[in-house]
Amino acid sequence: MSPRLRLLPLLAALGSVALAQETIKIGEYSSLTGKEASFGQSSHHGIVLAVEEINAAGGVLGKKIELITEDNQTKPGESATVVNKLISRDKVVALIGEVASGRSLEAAPIAQRSRIPMIAPAATNPKVTETGNYIFRVCFIDPFQGTAMAKFAEDTLKVKKVAIASSVSSAYSVGLARFFRETFTAGGGTITAEQKFSEGDKDFRAQLTAIRASGAEAVFVPAYYTEAALLIRQARDLGMTMPFFGGDGWEAPQLLEIGGAAMNGTYYSTHFSAENKEPVVADFVARYKARWDGEVPGAFSALGYDSVYVLVDAIKRAGTTDGPKLRDAIAQTKGFAGVTGITTINAQRDATKPAAIIAVRDGKLEFLKTVAP
Ligand code: PHE
Repeated sequence: MSPRLRLLPLLAALGSVALAQETIKIGEYSSLTGKEASFGQSSHHGIVLAVEEINAAGGVLGKKIELITEDNQTKPGESATVVNKLISRDKVVALIGEVASGRSLEAAPIAQRSRIPMIAPAATNPKVTETGNYIFRVCFIDPFQGTAMAKFAEDTLKVKKVAIASSVSSAYSVGLARFFRETFTAGGGTITAEQKFSEGDKDFRAQLTAIRASGAEAVFVPAYYTEAALLIRQARDLGMTMPFFGGDGWEAPQLLEIGGAAMNGTYYSTHFSAENKEPVVADFVARYKARWDGEVPGAFSALGYDSVYVLVDAIKRAGTTDGPKLRDAIAQTKGFAGVTGITTINAQRDATKPAAIIAVRDGKLEFLKTVAP
């Protein structure tokens, strides 16, 4: 072999090193394992699909996107640790995460201090984006979700007396309970009982007995699916047949697996329904199923997917990944059409989007209607 030919593999190797440096690094932190792995996995699958599609279409600013994913194991404290790593070790230019408000609230101050823009796909607690001007989300917030469900209770369930069972250990649950209470009582409704529990609790009979004695016609459970489904099963065992309803924390296939027949006659609000027949949704559902072995995308998959596209659209408009300029471009996002509807980032760095209301009937999820903001 001539010396020149021997150089070729070396040049090729150098070329790939150069190429490897020419990527745009995006950091994702997600609950891929642990108690809320279902949420993290759904959003992760949406995020990966978006990155793969964008790279297949040539990337952005002439570069490929390199997605660096960290698992926070659903553990408190871990999101801060992994986000510090993504920023200082991996030098990501932006962060996608988290679906849960609590974990987003851990990461947000770090992103803000480092001037690394962060887009939370599904964290709905207002405090998340209040952390600072580098923090965004592509979903509605809980004051809207709470109002939507208060109106639903009044107009659709036609109830005036509602009890609330919420988790004291999640920022999401505490906030959503409060926003619901404010609108429902302002509309003339009464909260007959307000019962609390903690993440990981398994026995809700004391709370349910108090709720039953309060004369509630329906029960609002702004909690995550595990506690919500267990609580509703125990309620049915106690002979409580009234409607139970909740928010996007119920959004997981496990809701029906854990709750079984007890879930009939329950309702929840969320961000997206795969049942929606609009072409942009149907196309996304088909691509997602093809990529992930027939899995049907949930709201967190769709929001994860849209987060990446919103970010990349901003990178394109900014013409750079420089933190302050990219931040400004994300803040200027207007009318971006995605699979969860139109994303316009408002002055609070939130998105204003409709909520989808889902009913459980005969053991199946049914798309009832969309509630506009
Ligand atoms: N909107 C919810 C939140 O902000 C979404 C969510 C619910 C995520 C339950 C994880 C678990 O926390």
